[in-house]
Amino acid sequence: MKKIGLAVVCISDRSADGTREDLSGPAISEACRDLCDTLIYTIIADDYEKIKTALLNICKDERIQLVLTTGGTGLAPRDVTPEATLAVADKIVPGICEEIRRQSLRYTPNAMLSRAVSVICNNTLIINLPGSPKAVKECCDIIRPILPHAADLLGNSVKDCARN
Ligand code: MTE
Repeated sequence: MKKIGLAVVCISDRSADGTREDLSGPAISEACRDLCDTLIYTIIADDYEKIKTALLNICKDERIQLVLTTGGTGLAPRDVTPEATLAVADKIVPGICEEIRRQSLRYTPNAMLSRAVSVICNNTLIINLPGSPKAVKECCDIIRPILPHAADLLGNSVKDCARN
């Protein structure tokens, strides 16, 4: 199986200013490590322009096919991760976050409060995940099965997936 280049992006004011250690980014890295050959990690404040700029820069990196963000998907005034993600989208991939929310309801009804989106930017798949370490572990289990095929499709290496 071809391995994936992964960027983990923690989006949190408190982690960016150093007042709270980010545990969710490392939890994502741990959950997806076996699927990846490259892993980069960054922390950004809940700032629309900063998130947009960071996502655009990461998606220019030829090594990266998948970006998993954590945090900023809820209803608080500073939660702007989905808006910044949509701002860099070439295409929207609704099924991924629909399924994350659907399956997450078995853990908590608060899954309905995540406004996470999934998009393609410069042939790179971006998936928003919620902010808590517990939530990212649950969500990584949900998306893991589709990640290798998604990376193959983005790399245009699938000739006819109906026959596989
Ligand atoms: N999804 C899963 N699987 N598990 C969770 O614990 N927490 C929810 C939701 N999605 C949760 C979840 C909560 S409490 C919130 S407020 C929203 O994600 C948004 O989280 P965020 O603002 O940290 O992104």
